[in-house]
Amino acid sequence: MAPTILVTGGAGYIGSHTVLQLLLRDFRVVVVDNLYNSSETSVQRVKELATQSGRNLSFHKLDLRDGPALEKLFLSTRFDAVIHFAGLKAVGESVQKPLLYFDNNINGTISLLKVMANHGCKKLVFSSSATVYGWPEKVPCTEESPLVATSPYGRTKLVIEEMCRDQYCADPEWKIILLRYFNPVGAHPSGYIGEDPHGIPNNLMPFVQQVAVGRRSALTVYGTDYSTNDGTGVRDYIHVVDLADGHIAALHKLDESSIGCREYNLGTGKGTSVLEMVKAFEKASGKKIPLVMSGRRPGDAEMVYAAIEKAARELKWKPKYGIEEMCRDQWNWASKNPYGYGSPRNNH
Ligand code: NAD
Ligand code: WQD
Repeated sequence: MAPTILVTGGAGYIGSHTVLQLLLRDFRVVVVDNLYNSSETSVQRVKELATQSGRNLSFHKLDLRDGPALEKLFLSTRFDAVIHFAGLKAVGESVQKPLLYFDNNINGTISLLKVMANHGCKKLVFSSSATVYGWPEKVPCTEESPLVATSPYGRTKLVIEEMCRDQYCADPEWKIILLRYFNPVGAHPSGYIGEDPHGIPNNLMPFVQQVAVGRRSALTVYGTDYSTNDGTGVRDYIHVVDLADGHIAALHKLDESSIGCREYNLGTGKGTSVLEMVKAFEKASGKKIPLVMSGRRPGDAEMVYAAIEKAARELKWKPKYGIEEMCRDQWNWASKNPYGYGSPRNNH
């Protein structure tokens, strides 16, 4: 029988792309999501893209903090492993509403781990983030670089990582992989699924995409005086399909004996500046992105990129796509779905 994977937050941006890759590799997938930051349309579209394998996907609208509902699900299905994406992720919002983030991200994870433990499901892949490296003193960031929280959001990732390490120490039968994503961008090459943030986008590429389709007038470039080639911030952008494949590699790693609780960076190992990224997007889309040069965004690091040797060595995973493909696929999704999964009236 094909392994059955529970995917929390599977209606979201990274989750939906990962669910598709899982189905295409013949896994059975159960998605739970409360649809707080997503739409069931993404699940429907993943089903369609997976064609025949789409029948191996089921969806439950459920909040992770609803313990009895999760318990019921685990009673009805035996899960081989869990990929845990569900969480809130807006750094700025987390500063305004820390309790919302602690409640949703930390309590949601506690609720999930409790039910997993009750049912002897002890294999977990968790969505951590490069945010755990804060403002790194040295780049590239290796998995051994110092960890620090620079926002309540980042603190939730650090706390959950620690919870996972503690859970493994308490019961060494657990196998846990903490994936630290750098900056996921792009979309599935079909242009049928992609990122659809509610409200004004916080992140660079969703904003650029909305300027390109005429929903916003200009991109504000935050900071032009960094010690980088062109003065703008440098990040490690990774194609969301490469990232999704990293989860399949992690699932295979969980089949090995005694892996314990391990951390892996998922990035490309290459840094790209804001202006380089805008230029690549302009080339891919044929659209001019008007820019407004502005001061630094509070809390931003100058330069962040990943060391990816550990993932390459131990997960046998390497990213395939560069920024050209990231921008091509981002534009393909944006031009086919200028209002994401919604209608103009639902998006501001
Ligand atoms: P997303 O918002 O698109 O997806 C998260 C999904 O989780 C959403 O569909 C949301 O409705 C759901 N969710 C949130 N709280 C829930 C709860 N309590 N119960 C059930 N469902 C809930 O975000 P994403 O970009 O796909 O990110 C997925 C994960 O990866 C998150 O944990 C995020 O912190 C992490 N991450 C994202 C990035 C990034 O830049 N996108 C970078 C590093 C880490
Ligand atoms: C990238 C670069 C900005 C918007 C965030 C989270 C991190 C992780 C990924 C979840 C920076 C510049 C941006 C804009 C700009 N998420 N920028 N104008 O800040 O690297 O990381 O998302 O875990 O935790 O902090 O990504 O896309 O916001 O910014 O000039 O309108 O683009 O200053 O240099 P960031 P980002």
